[in-house]
Amino acid sequence: MDTTSKEILFSREVIQKRVGELAAQISKDYAGRELILIGVLKGAFIFMADLIREISIPCRVDFARLASYGAGSESSGKVVMTKDIETSIKDKDILIVEDILDTGLTMQYFVDWLRERNPKSLKVCVFLDKRKRRKVTLEADYVGFAMEDGFVVGYGLDFNERYRFSPDIYVIKQ
Ligand code: IMP
Repeated sequence: MDTTSKEILFSREVIQKRVGELAAQISKDYAGRELILIGVLKGAFIFMADLIREISIPCRVDFARLASYGAGSESSGKVVMTKDIETSIKDKDILIVEDILDTGLTMQYFVDWLRERNPKSLKVCVFLDKRKRRKVTLEADYVGFAMEDGFVVGYGLDFNERYRFSPDIYVIKQ
């Protein structure tokens, strides 16, 4: 793929502003409660790092690693957990932090997995939402931006493990 064949969708300034708004909303909604954020690796690592630094209430963090994509940009439809969380979430307020909701298959799997551990509450925060591509009924509780179809990279998102480092989000032409 030619690195020049990509156009900017969300600049770092736009991203930073929206992350601040999400963090303010989350801080307000969970005021007086102790929140545990669970980031989904690898894609959510940058969003998670930015988000927790803007959240103004005490929170704890953990991570899981889920994989649904093989090489390239098409979902295999099969979700595999390669790293589980290490925190007990029973009777706790849990917020899943994910980079992007596409078909929703990965998130559905993870939500079902966590629900079995009986958290007090379980909500989902995603930075990007490709709503039209959903194959399950699941919706996120906090959404950075809704977007149309198209494959994006940067701000933690990759194509074949490339471009995660970019501070801006690009649409790539394949
Ligand atoms: P889903 O199971 O189809 O919702 O896929 C979710 C996962 O696919 C995300 O966590 C991403 O890792 C990956 N993904 C979906 N769309 C994109 C994209 O446009 N760019 C990069 N990764 C994506």
